[in-house]
Amino acid sequence: MVDFTLTDEQKDLRELAHNFATKEMRRVAWEYDKEGTWPAEIIKQAWEIGLMNTHTPEQYGGPGLDYLSGCLIEEEFGWGCSGIGTSLAANGLASAPVTLGGSEEVKREFLGMLSEEPRLASFCLTEPDAGSDVSGMKTTATRKGDKWVINGSKCFITNGQYADWYTVYAKTDKDAGHRGISAFVVPRDETVMIDKKEDKLGQRASNTATVSFNETEIPAGYLLGEENKGFKLAMMTLDRTRPGVAAMAVGIARAAFEFACEYSKERKQFGVPIAMHQAIQFMIADMATKVEAGRLLTWHSASLLDNGIRNTLACSHAKRFAADSAMEVTTDAVQVYGGYGFIKEYPVEKLMRDAKIMQLYEGTSQIQRLVIAKEVLMGRNVNEPIPESIRPEPVPA
Ligand code: CAA
Repeated sequence: MVDFTLTDEQKDLRELAHNFATKEMRRVAWEYDKEGTWPAEIIKQAWEIGLMNTHTPEQYGGPGLDYLSGCLIEEEFGWGCSGIGTSLAANGLASAPVTLGGSEEVKREFLGMLSEEPRLASFCLTEPDAGSDVSGMKTTATRKGDKWVINGSKCFITNGQYADWYTVYAKTDKDAGHRGISAFVVPRDETVMIDKKEDKLGQRASNTATVSFNETEIPAGYLLGEENKGFKLAMMTLDRTRPGVAAMAVGIARAAFEFACEYSKERKQFGVPIAMHQAIQFMIADMATKVEAGRLLTWHSASLLDNGIRNTLACSHAKRFAADSAMEVTTDAVQVYGGYGFIKEYPVEKLMRDAKIMQLYEGTSQIQRLVIAKEVLMGRNVNEPIPESIRPEPVPA
């Protein structure tokens, strides 16, 4: 039987996240969006009540939550303010390669750092000329004695300006395409420069920066996983974080849907609330279906992981559908508001701007379709278990 009945712990967690989103995130969401304010205080509060670093295993100071629980939290983050939510969730993206590929000492040092204090880490994959095409990266890591020396520039880095350490992907064999990429954990020092902070269309409370590494030296032991196996580590990381991104997209869509429902019952035209007009009812019905279907795909993609089953196809379905739906639902919410929807005094235009990035980051909707097409055409077994050798995170029985 397919069963998504939440446990009492999961329900409590969702309530905690919802209350936090209501009281702390929504309170400032529209103001922070306007000013592009960095949510330092909210990050501290979220960390204090255990809503950050949710998948960090208990032995490194984290709560070691399952992926479905993570999605419950991220949906509430998306509902509260996805700009602030992205700032809160980005540690998970940077930490996953460390959990998957770091040595015991590296995990203790870097995951422990995030558990001990409200500090941040960033995932550095994208480059100006290597977005969807990860293999095209130019950043290099060169082995010198017992050190690696990193050189290169990474762009669109969430929390880049505020991070204490970075997960950096670099070429260790320039001629080997995706098989010449390695992953490293890189602490911030004076050779790490923040070259640019982006001024964005949406999610304006999140920090997005260009980070460059200039002869940055790290100990040999900061290599994550095996040399030249960094591309796979990146893909395995995205399999684990795309369900959360999909959940955040569901949260944005749900927020827009709720605003549209409320407004359609208040706003009168032709003598009745616009909710009485079938044209509006059909839009509301489609929004409701998209939220519901997006959530089911998302939960499915997370629960596969929680059961030790490969979720590459499922998380691309979820991320693609939830992101595209968030864009459609928020655009329709603006339509339900009519001319008022276009005005900043009303809540939905922010959601429409925020939704756009969901179709872009952590793999565009086109890349998700590429993955889906490859998986279905190659006919890979969608229920393939994840081999124990690459499944170091705790998997519930
Ligand atoms: N798990 C494990 N291994 C995987 C894998 C997975 N999910 N997917 C692919 N691989 C392996 C393959 O088995 C193959 O292995 P071999 O070398 O042994 O053959 C290898 O990786 C290459 O796979 P493909 O041939 O499928 O790779 P491709 O080049 O055709 O496609 C891609 C790759 C899907 C386009 C990939 O490059 C991709 O996902 N690109 C999008 C990148 C992305 O999401 N960027 C977002 C950056 S993060 C961000 O946005 C956050 C932020 O802070 C803003």
